[in-house]
Amino acid sequence: MNASLHERLGGATAITSIANDIVELHQQNPRIAPRFAGSDTPALKRRVATFFSMGTGGPSEYEGQAMLETHRGMNIDCAEFIAVVDDALEALRRNGVRQREQEEVLFILYSMKADIVKV
Ligand code: HEM
Repeated sequence: MNASLHERLGGATAITSIANDIVELHQQNPRIAPRFAGSDTPALKRRVATFFSMGTGGPSEYEGQAMLETHRGMNIDCAEFIAVVDDALEALRRNGVRQREQEEVLFILYSMKADIVKV
């Protein structure tokens, strides 16, 4: 059987690093940084890491809320959604993830759009 996306990304260590970078890039991205001004950064990084792990076939049990519940009422627009996806792709590149795996993550993230934008 082929290795899971989780394994091909580099396993738990790489995913923790990717999640940390995603949150830090969001906090430096002027288009979306204000959204995270009140966040508990370490807690958010842990949530993003477990969500990412679970979503790529890893062992982590994500205990946060579902995407629709999390983002409901935030009035997120398409430009913000693209900004989040761009940050995620940049975090993958910084962690040496290859194009094939970048494309798979992109597809997974894009498929969540209907649960996040204008919900
Ligand atoms: C595919 C795209 C996205 C994914 C996979 C995603 C994922 C997540 C996850 C896993 C959480 C943590 C939920 C929890 O703590 O229970 C979260 C929280 C949050 N997301 Fe997203 N998100 C996405 C897009 C966006 C966009 C476009 C925005 C707006 C710019 C946004 C703003 C937020 C905010 C403000 C929080 C709460 C942060 C906090 O509790 O401190 N998200 N998101």
